[in-house]
Amino acid sequence: MPLKLTHPNQVPHPAAEAMLPAIGGFPTSDRPLFLAGYSELCRIDLNGKRVLEICGGHGKLAAAVARSFPSAEVMGLDLYAVSGPEADEWCRQSPGLSYIAGDAFDLSRFEADSLDLVWGQAALHHLAHDIDGLCVQVARVLKPGGRFVFIFEPMGHNLAVAAIRAIRMAREELGDESNLYLSQFEKMARYFGACEVQMFNLLGYPLKAFSDRFRPLCRLVQRADAALFGRFPGLLRYGANCNVVFTKSL
Ligand SMILES: C[S@@+](CC[C@H](N)C(=O)[O-])C[C@H]1O[C@@H](n2cnc3c(N)ncnc32)[C@H](O)[C@@H]1O
Repeated sequence: MPLKLTHPNQVPHPAAEAMLPAIGGFPTSDRPLFLAGYSELCRIDLNGKRVLEICGGHGKLAAAVARSFPSAEVMGLDLYAVSGPEADEWCRQSPGLSYIAGDAFDLSRFEADSLDLVWGQAALHHLAHDIDGLCVQVARVLKPGGRFVFIFEPMGHNLAVAAIRAIRMAREELGDESNLYLSQFEKMARYFGACEVQMFNLLGYPLKAFSDRFRPLCRLVQRADAALFGRFPGLLRYGANCNVVFTKSL
């Protein structure tokens, strides 16, 4: 099944705005990318649904989803999930949320065909060393028609990503991280069916570090990206960052 590459410019889902604090320390210039990703989480009404965040860090996004969809059962896991009074308070403020320490490569605690949505933010590039292992786990637990979403991932086809992250890897700043490639998404799509890749940040990736100081410049570059993607769709594959949405076949 071929990948569908897009640069989304649709109006964000109203619930997605309320989730924006979950972008934490990421540059504010990336808000459109996160808004598009959070809109994908909201694409189906999650009330009454069972959903799981993998690699959730401090659990901020899972908590935001739980608050936006009060009758959803929201579960989050991370290898190093925070615990103690702070985490307890977090869960208390977000009814429907449970947050546990766990490994994304071992979802055996979840029944087959039991989840409507599994997602990760800035997560897949930590799991790319065993794409097949991950997909086997997630394809088992997702219901038919369920969605597997990644928000904000770095793409190695973009030369600035390749160069900057190669330097950071050589300095051992990036630990278990890898860049991602469309060929990996093609491989993943075989486990699920449909795959849409939303591409962002064609020119502006090196500006990210300064984006809070040069906001007007960043906005200009984003407009240039949108115009270039629209005029030359072949450039979509060279975006620096993406959101990816897999949908499990019915
Ligand atoms: C870049 S952080 C992203 C955290 C959070 N999603 C966010 O956006 O702030 C990547 C997270 O993946 C977690 N992680 C890495 N490998 C994992 C695995 N195999 N299972 C569960 N979590 C993992 C790390 O502990 C870390 O919290």
